[in-house]
Amino acid sequence: KRVLNCMCGAFSDKWLDVSRRCGKNAEPLQVPWGKHIDPQQLDAALATGAFDAVTLIHNETSTGVMNPLEELCAVARRYPEVVLIVDTVSSFSAVPIPMDELGIDVLLTGSQKALALPPGFSLFSVSEKAFVRAMQQADRGYYFDFLEFKKNQDIDMTPTTPSIAHINALQSKLDDIFGEGLTNRYERHRRTNARVHDWVRRRGFEFFADESYRSVTLTCVKNNRGIDVADLMKRLRVKHHLVIDGGYGKIKGETFRLSNMGDETEQTVSHLLACLDDCLPPS
Ligand SMILES: Cc1ncc(COP(=O)(O)O)c(C=O)c1O
Repeated sequence: KRVLNCMCGAFSDKWLDVSRRCGKNAEPLQVPWGKHIDPQQLDAALATGAFDAVTLIHNETSTGVMNPLEELCAVARRYPEVVLIVDTVSSFSAVPIPMDELGIDVLLTGSQKALALPPGFSLFSVSEKAFVRAMQQADRGYYFDFLEFKKNQDIDMTPTTPSIAHINALQSKLDDIFGEGLTNRYERHRRTNARVHDWVRRRGFEFFADESYRSVTLTCVKNNRGIDVADLMKRLRVKHHLVIDGGYGKIKGETFRLSNMGDETEQTVSHLLACLDDCLPPS
């Protein structure tokens, strides 16, 4: 059948292109950037019976929207023929994502965002349902073939030469994560995120995402004050050696993004906010 790509920002929009380049018959479920994917809209699309796969980005890093994962997964579970593919690149390990309970079939993440490791490594987990679906596909290729990975995992191998340095770094990061404790890690993200939100309000800025759907790992700040974002970035870099993003793609300059994901602590976030204050033009 067809793939439904839930699209609400730069990274989720890209999935449509990815699906089509993989030769899939794909269709968008597009909402404006800054909005979340609406469970009712997903339900209406799946009720057509036209789809047997859905892609969803849990945390849309370009817009600071965290999609309502529980509600969306609850909708997808009502359609057993649908394989649910969820990208958690910027939310994995920052909030609980009980994959099996939610009914996620393919959970993807990357090294470079919520895990705060160098870029260049991906992680994925596959449900039994997705393995069965893979068996029915003739065009699985080799490099991303789930069955090839499974066959190799059974003998403690990988299908190709892996990035050993990343595996060692991941091992070290997992020691850190479990040393801190998952609940403490989730709480730390909530606290540092609240600190950023508080700063945004106090400085007279607004949020690009709606209140109930704001990410807890990064904040996309709306430039309602009309500041020169490029100049702010430059001053921050030159004076304090700090780099922030000045808005992704079509919202460059209209927004800027402040991350509190991964290894960020109250201390590092407070330092960033103090340096921003130092570089911001007076309101
Ligand atoms: C949520 C999300 N998905 C996908 C990607 C794309 O990752 P990559 O640039 O490694 O393809 C990113 C950005 O790193 C992201 O934030």
